[in-house]
Amino acid sequence: MTKSALITGITGQDGAYLARLLLDKGYKVHGLVARRSSDSRWRLREMGVEADIVYLDGDMADACSVQRAVIQSAPDEVYNLAAQSFVAASWNQPVTTGIVDGLGVTHLLEAIRQFSPHTRFYQASTSEMFGLIQAEQQDENTPFYPRSPYGVAKLYGHWITVNYRESFNLHASSGILFNHESPLRGIEFVTRKVTDAAARIKQGKQQELALGNIDAKRDWGFAGDYVEAMWLMLQQDKPDDFVVATGVTTTVREMCRIAFDHVGLNYRDYVKIDPAFFRPAEVEVLLGNPAKAQRVLGWKPKTDLDTLIRMMMDADMKRVAKE
Ligand code: NAP
Ligand code: GDD
Repeated sequence: MTKSALITGITGQDGAYLARLLLDKGYKVHGLVARRSSDSRWRLREMGVEADIVYLDGDMADACSVQRAVIQSAPDEVYNLAAQSFVAASWNQPVTTGIVDGLGVTHLLEAIRQFSPHTRFYQASTSEMFGLIQAEQQDENTPFYPRSPYGVAKLYGHWITVNYRESFNLHASSGILFNHESPLRGIEFVTRKVTDAAARIKQGKQQELALGNIDAKRDWGFAGDYVEAMWLMLQQDKPDDFVVATGVTTTVREMCRIAFDHVGLNYRDYVKIDPAFFRPAEVEVLLGNPAKAQRVLGWKPKTDLDTLIRMMMDADMKRVAKE
């Protein structure tokens, strides 16, 4: 029997990779898509899946539309990826971030509880919930200490997922994913900002690159690997929470070096520090321990940072050349 999946946030980076994965596995894929004044399906086109998806209008802030999407898609699995996901923007839009990333999760869980309680649910939780880290390497037992309105909203989303699992016996799992990137990453995130700028500088279309705190450290993986972990979580008999990470942490500075090196440039000649890109409260370092995901799900990251940044650089070099 063909399985039905509903993906919220299908037009985002992870949505595009997950849609490809589920279609390849034979799922009927539905996508909740919020009304935008300009085209938001470019990533789905890049992945070659745009025509294979059933689109449902809706917004995570609008409980009625979320409920309708659940009823219309009759999903075996729901992947809640929709979010205002840019941490820096969350200080400027704290209420929207709270509604979409926090309360929006309840809209979806409540629709599942009332209309489709057999549906398995995945919540896109985040390492940003660890924020001011309480352990050198973070795992499922590390206490949370979010440092942004985004992190706070996501923590609500995480705990309401746990609560609905415990209260109503829903098959609801939370994936605590560390940073993951790809050529489809939004340009505002630091990896894409750097690979795009390095490509432009190499091709004479930009002179320098302004960044904030380049001493921050992140545990960066490849989005294509991470969506496999999401799917694996919903194939388990028991719902649970899982950290998904590489177990390696690297500074933004070193990531810049890798990107610029790849096109024969020295990042030190181009990167400028601009206080405008510093955050009101920073998450200085994140380092995940994916041992549980490996043990229970049989999941392991396949792509190291060097390979990932090279993949992104190659894609940006081609794209910039065509502009
Ligand atoms: P992304 O590229 O920013 O995609 C976010 C998606 O959410 C887009 O499809 C966006 O639609 C949609 N969306 C935003 N507001 C919405 C609303 N009000 N109603 C319905 N849809 C809405 O994010 P991503 O990198 O793919 O991440 C996917 C999820 O994982 C997010 O929840 C993110 O917070 C979480 N996460 C990401 C990472 C990471 O490193 N990538 C790590 C941990 C957790 P539009 O295209 O129309 O804007
Ligand atoms: N975006 C950006 N722009 N970040 C910069 C810059 C800059 O110019 N300069 C330094 N940084 C630093 C940030 O201060 C942060 O410490 C780090 O680079 C990574 O920033 P982002 O790439 O914007 O990602 P993030 O870690 O804040 O959030 C991403 O990962 C989370 C998981 O940990 C997002 O994808 C979140 O949605 C996700 O939950």
